[in-house]
Amino acid sequence: MEYRTIAGLKLPAIGIGTWNMGRARLGYEKPDGSNDEQCILAIKEAVKLGMWHIDTAEMYSSGHAEQIVAKAIKGIPREKVFITTKVLPSNLKREYLLAAARSSLQRLQVSYIDIYMIHWVNSTGQIKEAIEAMDELVEAGKVKHIGVSNFSTAQLKLAQSCTDNKIVTNQVQYNLLDRRCEKELLPYCQENNVILTAYSPLGQGKLLKNKVLTAVAAKHGKTPAQVALNWLVSKKNVVTIPKAASVGHVLENAGATGWKPDQADLAMLENEF
Ligand SMILES: NC(=O)c1ccc[n+]([C@@H]2O[C@H](COP(=O)([O-])OP(=O)(O)OC[C@H]3O[C@@H](n4cnc5c(N)ncnc54)[C@H](OP(=O)(O)O)[C@@H]3O)[C@@H](O)[C@H]2O)c1
Repeated sequence: MEYRTIAGLKLPAIGIGTWNMGRARLGYEKPDGSNDEQCILAIKEAVKLGMWHIDTAEMYSSGHAEQIVAKAIKGIPREKVFITTKVLPSNLKREYLLAAARSSLQRLQVSYIDIYMIHWVNSTGQIKEAIEAMDELVEAGKVKHIGVSNFSTAQLKLAQSCTDNKIVTNQVQYNLLDRRCEKELLPYCQENNVILTAYSPLGQGKLLKNKVLTAVAAKHGKTPAQVALNWLVSKKNVVTIPKAASVGHVLENAGATGWKPDQADLAMLENEF
């Protein structure tokens, strides 16, 4: 695995996401334990391969994804994994946020969260109180770093102005099919030492059948997923967290680093999308 040091943090270029782990097919974020063992094995494999950045949220399967993470990391020294979890916009008032963090810590069975993130905001007015509550969690040692997600550049700047702690990352959708962040947010992160954590790096699977992507992959003896992830983490300040619920997918995603497509291939990819 390749690693990146950004905002004072060393992270694997590729970690693992957990949205839809432990979720029933029907019902909004309804938990379902029937596939937990496979998810636990996938997370364990990711950690074994050096992809120890695990991304979860109180929202995912209504907290059950955090419980899956707890089982996957059981027995691993705490400092050997890096856990990001997120608080919902309905919990951004101080007391709610502090209670949400307590619940996440309990479900995760850990004494601290590496990055605690605002999942998204329903209004910019929610930011100040939430960030100040997060400062309290940092002060108490429950949270190591503060992050945000789905923030515009202006919202990120506002969040940063509310705290002396660093806002280490903005987690946003970024993949070959959705390159909106390249216009303003990515350059801002690159210039200001902020991690851009790319979510849905495989377009939730939608981009993997693309002909150009498939051709570049074939030329390098790689898979479309490996090329899509490689392209993302070749960008300065970008790390990513593909969700993979099988050991096979984790192994494949681990093979996305350690090689480089040539300039002509990169140009072909960038022109296609
Ligand atoms: N902050 C936010 O608002 C936000 C929003 C969305 C996502 N996220 C985070 O980002 C993570 C990743 O995004 P995502 O889950 O939306 O989408 P994604 O990672 O782009 O795609 C996940 C899908 O791709 C499949 N997959 C994984 N590796 C593969 C491979 N090597 N070959 C073929 N298919 C592969 C997975 O299948 P299997 O499950 O069968 O392995 C799953 O169906 C989430 O899990 C979550 O942690 C955050």
